[in-house]
Amino acid sequence: MNLTLHVWRQKSSTAEGRFVDYTANDISPDASFLEMLDVVNEQLIEKGEDTIHFEHDCREGICGSCGMMINGIAHGPLGGTATCQLHMRQFNDGDEIWVEPFRARAFPVIKDLIIDRSPLDEIIQAGGFISVNTGSAIEANTIPIPKVVQERAMDAAECIECGACVAQCPNGAAQLFTSAKVSHLGLLPQGQPERYDRVLRMVEVMEEHFGSCTMYGECEAVCPKEISIDFIARMNRDYIVARFKNRKAG
Ligand code: FES
Repeated sequence: MNLTLHVWRQKSSTAEGRFVDYTANDISPDASFLEMLDVVNEQLIEKGEDTIHFEHDCREGICGSCGMMINGIAHGPLGGTATCQLHMRQFNDGDEIWVEPFRARAFPVIKDLIIDRSPLDEIIQAGGFISVNTGSAIEANTIPIPKVVQERAMDAAECIECGACVAQCPNGAAQLFTSAKVSHLGLLPQGQPERYDRVLRMVEVMEEHFGSCTMYGECEAVCPKEISIDFIARMNRDYIVARFKNRKAG
């Protein structure tokens, strides 16, 4: 396949960025999108030019670091897929492809396609954990958990913190991310003692950095793990209960 790429190049968070055109020739349809960028970068190295900077680690859809906008869609045209798992057979020979970093006020560009996702980490630091001393691992069946609850919790726990939901949302909201993190702990028995404090703390930090949810649903459409926006409704219910509990306590 021969392709024309328009890639966002930006030297630093303070520098001005612009699209730069590249050709990617003789690309295998079986190559992943990141492997295609590797080929372009090898050509740039041979010419002594600065390579296109992008983030990646696992290349298996696990770590969440590889996200970028491809033709205006977070992680590209194939649903339920992280950028590293997108293959070039999803494109046609001769295509022009526009490649940009995830764009959101909360995610400043560090360089080229690399963004700073640390506001998502701040939400986790505010409550995305269980702080009770659980001791050593206990026998797995000691705490019976209904299968339907287990599966719901695991659906939420699939979130890889890539930030696609924020990047695609016209409001730059992080409700899908936060609700997944609130829910995977709040659904399980081990997460109950801190359930309501957790949602208050995490939503408070979320609101410091991100926009408000007005239910566009774009987040669910681009989530590489297909996390449902139903979790947002669940988080909102827990948040209302938590506020009510606090008022009574006061
Ligand atoms: S590189 Fe880890 S999810 Fe894509």
